Amino acid sequence: MKFLITAGPTREPIDPVRYISNRSSGKMGYAIAQAALDAGHEVVLISGPVALPAPARAQLVRVTTADEMYDAVHANLGGIDIAVLCAAVADFKPAVFVARKIKKSAGIPMIELVPTRDILASLGALPEKKFLLAGFAAETDDLEKNAREKLEKKRCDVVVANDVSAPGLGFESDENELTIFLPDQPGRVLPRGSKSDIAKVLVKILCAAQ
Ligand code: CTP
Repeated sequence: MKFLITAGPTREPIDPVRYISNRSSGKMGYAIAQAALDAGHEVVLISGPVALPAPARAQLVRVTTADEMYDAVHANLGGIDIAVLCAAVADFKPAVFVARKIKKSAGIPMIELVPTRDILASLGALPEKKFLLAGFAAETDDLEKNAREKLEKKRCDVVVANDVSAPGLGFESDENELTIFLPDQPGRVLPRGSKSDIAKVLVKILCAAQ
């Protein structure tokens, strides 16, 4: 099968030296890419800026901003069977990019933010989608309720939820615990383990659901 996977954060530039971003390390998305490759699948990995080596045999597309990630995803949909949108895309970006460095001496800047385009929702809204669409949900409260809302709102086939409030899990960590939600099925917990072990199970579940 052919996977398209997004991973890592995006960076939304304010001026030539500053940006808005988040704590995503890309480790979960890269682990899913590696697990899919190890299981013999083809992988297009669309990655924001991370400090991780490129998985051998993946087709790696490097992007920086949410807009670049949106365009790269839409340009690489051909022939895919499973899309796993694991990236922590910035929800907001500065309304304008200031071409010259903002000087402290000019006072405290007011930075107007505008929403980025939602890549996951844009795939869910495709009229004749032939691939399985999996989104991620990072939650601190009401995991199941929020994950199931995301399933419906963004029209995905699968939502993979992680509790980012749990100590030692999620962002930057090598371990994770995930709960997988499909419509009309009880949530399936993948108990705490290395991101690489969890990714192997997730790849199997996604292939079975396709
Ligand atoms: N996502 C995306 N494009 C965006 C924002 C998010 O594709 N511009 C995807 C992420 O890759 C992930 C899912 O949407 O698969 C996360 O949804 P989001 O609504 O951002 O969830 P949270 O980050 O959990 O935010 P919130 O709780 O505010 O809804």
